[in-house]
Amino acid sequence: MPDSLQQISIYDLIGEEGFTRLIRAFYRQVPGDDILGPMYPPEDFPGAEQRLRDFLIFRFGGPQRYIEQRGHPRLRMRHNPFAINQQARDRWVQLMDTALTEAALPKPADDALREFFHDTATFMINRP
Ligand code: HEM
Repeated sequence: MPDSLQQISIYDLIGEEGFTRLIRAFYRQVPGDDILGPMYPPEDFPGAEQRLRDFLIFRFGGPQRYIEQRGHPRLRMRHNPFAINQQARDRWVQLMDTALTEAALPKPADDALREFFHDTATFMINRP
């Protein structure tokens, strides 16, 4: 395909640095959150941060580290142990929206990520 027709990815736009900054801003809020804080492994916040960051880098056009280390994402199945109702979904999205605003990524990246997070988070709801 000629270069001129190739689409650039979100990863091309913001790089490792953009994802790292975004996910750090997200996880900075999680431990102190009354709904989400207790759901995450207290001894492994750095690991959780790395898993989400690497997943997004893979999903948005960067290196495949997540797949190499974790295999197929199967996100809904992996979230089944966590009780995710509408309230937990809304709080996750709220913290991520705050992190996106703080990270101040270029608008096309911000728009695409916000939409992806909103939709994927709704898909993760697994409790009434
Ligand atoms: C809807 C609200 C959500 C809640 C309450 C939630 C909660 C959690 C928790 C408690 C973990 C375990 C932390 C760890 O040790 O890795 C986790 C893992 C993960 N979450 Fe979520 N999550 C939500 C939505 C999402 C969304 C929208 C995405 C994708 C954009 C996502 C992607 C991931 C990934 C990639 C992992 C690591 C999976 C693995 O490899 O084990 N989560 N989530």
